[in-house]
Amino acid sequence: MAKMKILFWLPQADASAWLHGLARALPEAELRAWQPGDNAAADYAIVWHPPRELLAARPGLRAIFNLGAGVDAILALERDQPGSLPQDALLVRLEDSGMAQQMGEYVQHAVLRYLRRFDEYALAQARREWHVLAPHPREAFTVGVLGLGVLGAQVARAIAALGVPVRGFSRSAKTLDGIATYSGELHGAQFDAFLDGVKLLVNLLPATPDTQDILDARVFAKLERGAYLVNVARGSHLVEQDLIDALANGTLSAATLDVFREEPLAPDHPFWREPRITITPHCSALTLRDEAISQIADKIEALARGETVSGIVHIGRGY
Ligand code: NAP
Ligand code: GLV
Repeated sequence: MAKMKILFWLPQADASAWLHGLARALPEAELRAWQPGDNAAADYAIVWHPPRELLAARPGLRAIFNLGAGVDAILALERDQPGSLPQDALLVRLEDSGMAQQMGEYVQHAVLRYLRRFDEYALAQARREWHVLAPHPREAFTVGVLGLGVLGAQVARAIAALGVPVRGFSRSAKTLDGIATYSGELHGAQFDAFLDGVKLLVNLLPATPDTQDILDARVFAKLERGAYLVNVARGSHLVEQDLIDALANGTLSAATLDVFREEPLAPDHPFWREPRITITPHCSALTLRDEAISQIADKIEALARGETVSGIVHIGRGY
């Protein structure tokens, strides 16, 4: 039987460590790191932010494994130039594989920092000021999680463990113990009910045409006055000027941002100069090599046996 052929592409990473790990997990496979000009057949591609030429018209490709949860970069290739994705290839994204715990910790840290006002104490320390601030009442510090998928549901549970009220919003209805759930269309009546009274909004939506620019002045105005924003999904969700204006006029108190419209964030970007914006370099949940390899290898073996797998992206829906 012919050996299965696997292409690998991960910009800015040591491909050899990945190829060794994949070779251990899939000893029968023929693995190669993609190079420009390589148009030869492959059964599977394991990629992050691939160039169009890697995927377009690749003969025989059965599945593309995305080395992350968000598939927006791959789907943008198809939107910008239809035909970029081989027609019969499945697109499969990572499901958790160690990201949910990291995301839970990141958001818990942000919630505790704002709940206990450690952000304001840090600013007071820089001014050498000593005052005790009145604590935020925990029972009124409602956290709203936008997106209750693999990561959003885990994040909602991690925040609920801190003892604050938690609610979540998704497209389809969900039931999660201890979490108030809302569902429907963005900007519909359920969405407004979800936002009403939220003191800290966490975004864990995928980046799709429907969710683009969702974090805007209209949404900020529906939260509790002086609310907090944590964006750990994608920069394209946030209308940047609306955040700057909302901080200036008191609609929002502070924001923690892990993702940006342009990454890396340009050195002259106004966000760097705003002390109420906390910036991290897209690190809230990193792809972990061993976990990702093990999940993808199991799925490749399942597909090779003719079975179906979870995590298949619905291309029309965008996630
Ligand atoms: P997921 O499992 O696909 O969950 C997506 C959630 O969003 C689902 O609950 C879905 O609703 C909901 N949703 C999608 N479109 C919607 C819409 N128009 N209106 C309302 N709800 C909508 O994705 P995930 O694995 O949790 O990951 C979420 C995102 O996190 C990724 O797409 C990626 O952009 C981001 N991410 C960021 C980092 C980082 O380091 N910053 C790391 C990993 C992932 P249904 O459940 O009803 O389908
Ligand atoms: C990271 O941003 C991911 O989508 O996994």
